[in-house]
Amino acid sequence: MALVLTYGTFDLLHVGHVNLLRRARALGDRLVVGLSSDAFNALKRKHATQPYADREAVLRAIRYVDDVFPEETWEQKADDIRRLGADLLVMGSDWSGHFDDLSRHCAVHYLPRTENISSSLLKAEIRRATTPAPAGTSLLMAGSRR
Ligand code: CTP
Repeated sequence: MALVLTYGTFDLLHVGHVNLLRRARALGDRLVVGLSSDAFNALKRKHATQPYADREAVLRAIRYVDDVFPEETWEQKADDIRRLGADLLVMGSDWSGHFDDLSRHCAVHYLPRTENISSSLLKAEIRRATTPAPAGTSLLMAGSRR
C-alpha cells in the first residue's frame, strides 16, 4: 500500500492542480495532501482567495485525494512523512530540487507543471475581466477602429 504525499495552496482549484493530483495518485495507492493553512500562506506572502476550510472541502471532493491535513511550517515535512508512513513525496516541477534532502525519509519526485495555468494567472484574468475600462477608453478604441 504505497502512500503518496504532496503539498500546496490549491486556491481556485484548476486543471493544473487536477493533473498534478491525478498523476501523483497514480504513483501509489493513497494520496494525502498537506494543504497550506491561511497562517502559512501569510508567512509565504501568498494570498489565497479562499480560506483553508473551503480549499479543503474542494480538495476532498476530488476523487484522487484520500486525505487532507494542514501544512503550517516549512519544516514539518520530515515529521509528516514519518507520521503518515509516506513512501513518496510528489511536487510540481516549480519545486525541482527544493526537497531533495527529504529523500533520506522517502522517495522524492517532481512532476512537470501543466503549462499556462495557475491560481495567480486566474486571479489576474478575473481582475482584468472585471475591472471597468478607464473613462474615455471606449471612445478611444472606437476612434482607433476608424
Ligand atoms: N501545479 C501544476 N501545474 C500548474 C499549477 C500548479 O502542476 N499549472 C502544481 C504545483 O507545482 C504544486 C501544486 O500544483 O505542486 C499546488 O500548486 P499551487 O502553488 O497551490 O498552485 P499555483 O497555481 O501554482 O498557485 P500560484 O499561482 O498562487 O503560485
